[in-house]
Amino acid sequence: MVKFKLNGRDVSVDVPDDTPLLWALRDDLDLTGTKFGCGVGQCGACTVLVGGRATRSCITPLSSLEGADVTTIEGLDPNGRHAVQEAWKDIQVPQCGYCQSGQIMQAVSLLKDYPDPTDEEIDGVMGGSLCRCMTYVRIRKAIKKAAAALRKEEASNG
Ligand code: FES
Ligand code: FES
Repeated sequence: MVKFKLNGRDVSVDVPDDTPLLWALRDDLDLTGTKFGCGVGQCGACTVLVGGRATRSCITPLSSLEGADVTTIEGLDPNGRHAVQEAWKDIQVPQCGYCQSGQIMQAVSLLKDYPDPTDEEIDGVMGGSLCRCMTYVRIRKAIKKAAAALRKEEASNG
């Protein structure tokens, strides 16, 4: 039995210790916004936040998460209106959409390190998040838009 915080709620999951977080999310906790792509940590489709940092849930055993704070795309904002989600909608980033929850979670993590990211910084962090529909140019644009919105929000909060 592993207990952790998921999208602000305490949860406990009773599965074998080596079960990857991705499977617990999708099969046991009914959160299917996080996607399976490669299953070996290479594509980013399964990215969630653990302690606020982008983490590939397909290679994160549940046993490593006792007491952790996990956020999935469903928990990013109660109304789906996080600045990154809003920018994604404004720029109309998704094509098929399959990779996009992972892209958004990776972008949220990136903006914690780079509040005003350059193209190189974006490419450096986002480079491992693959999109078969090649939405990379719009992703970069949306990240810059979200960054500006978050900086504005922070400035107005003092
Ligand atoms: S499914 Fe996890 S990195 Fe590809
Ligand atoms: S939007 Fe289709 S894989 Fe990225």
